Amino acid sequence: MAKKIFAIETSCDDTSIALVSEEGFVYGMVSASQDLAHQPFGGIVPEIASRNHSQAILPLVDELIKKTQMTWSEVSGIAVTNRPGLIGSLIVGLVTAKTLSHVHQKPLIGVNHLEGHILAPFLFDSQIQKTDLTYPFIALAVSGGHTSIYEVRGLGDYSVLGSTLDDAAGEAFDKFAKMAGLGFPGGVKVDQMAQRGQRDAYDFPRGLIHEDSYQMSFSGLKASAQRLLASLDPPNLQTELANLCASFQEAVVDALIAKLDLAMKKNKMKTVVITGGVSANSRLREKSQQWAQKNRYYLHIPPLRYCTDNAAMIGYAGALRLERGEHHSLDLGPSPRVWPEDFRDGNFNKGRQARVQRP
Ligand code: KG4
Ligand code: ZN
Repeated sequence: MAKKIFAIETSCDDTSIALVSEEGFVYGMVSASQDLAHQPFGGIVPEIASRNHSQAILPLVDELIKKTQMTWSEVSGIAVTNRPGLIGSLIVGLVTAKTLSHVHQKPLIGVNHLEGHILAPFLFDSQIQKTDLTYPFIALAVSGGHTSIYEVRGLGDYSVLGSTLDDAAGEAFDKFAKMAGLGFPGGVKVDQMAQRGQRDAYDFPRGLIHEDSYQMSFSGLKASAQRLLASLDPPNLQTELANLCASFQEAVVDALIAKLDLAMKKNKMKTVVITGGVSANSRLREKSQQWAQKNRYYLHIPPLRYCTDNAAMIGYAGALRLERGEHHSLDLGPSPRVWPEDFRDGNFNKGRQARVQRP
């Protein structure tokens, strides 16, 4: 019988529970979004996020158990995101996972959230088939919390080629939407508004686009948008909003694709993955598909439910780690950052052994 991993993800503002096989088959996943709770503040409020996780998590655990009709005897491990993330949010998932691990005597596997995003393209379920994706590939993980390009050679064998030096791309969308009075979360609102606008109406800066490096920057774009918004009087702002959104979005998309292009060419890669919440962006999807087609690249963008923060990707990463004999003791702690031992020579550590083994 296939080994099943029970997985928990609470690193930011989504509470998610899943049951996944070590092949990446998702038996079931239930998630709760907190968008409404954070909306009045125009961004994620860490304390509200932790409080909402603590209210949502056990009802979701029950819901998943009912939905998948699982029994604990068929579960071979409990995977949980323990890094990086908001500490209060991580603690809620971690304590829940440790309690379940202790009560049901199952190994606990602390998972690096970023490894989850990198491995998400391998997930499949009753609606989508197993992908024919193979290593190596270039992955762009782009969300409200991260914007990084990785070279992925195999499980645990990743190099971070480059990251944003300031805001994550999703954060830039959210901040722009807040400045323009579009609400939270901003990305989807900007995307919708942009459908009616002209992409070349405004020439926003594409940070570091011509540099021969994989680093990205969205702060200049944000400052430029802020200046422009401040210079428009309210009636003009309303009529110009669609053009502003379309032009802003185009600048973000161009900056991301330029760095992906550099990564693919310099590393002579043929396969590319885009993941994270911003991969929902309709223009990023359209333009990256055109770019991939032109260059004969195989582009894989997982379904949105596995692109945004989700427990299935944590379960799959946990399953592969457990298969290697890696698991943790019950004194595992949360970390706002990746662990130093996640890296070696600038790479994610290949074949790292977990720091503490259960007796
Ligand atoms: O992965 P995710 O659900 O959570 C983390 O941030 O980790 O990503 C959420 C981010 C937010 O910044 C949101 O504005 C952005 O993804 N986003 C979008 C779109 N949908 C979500 N950005 C641009 N266009 C979209 N359609
Ligand atoms: Zn994430």
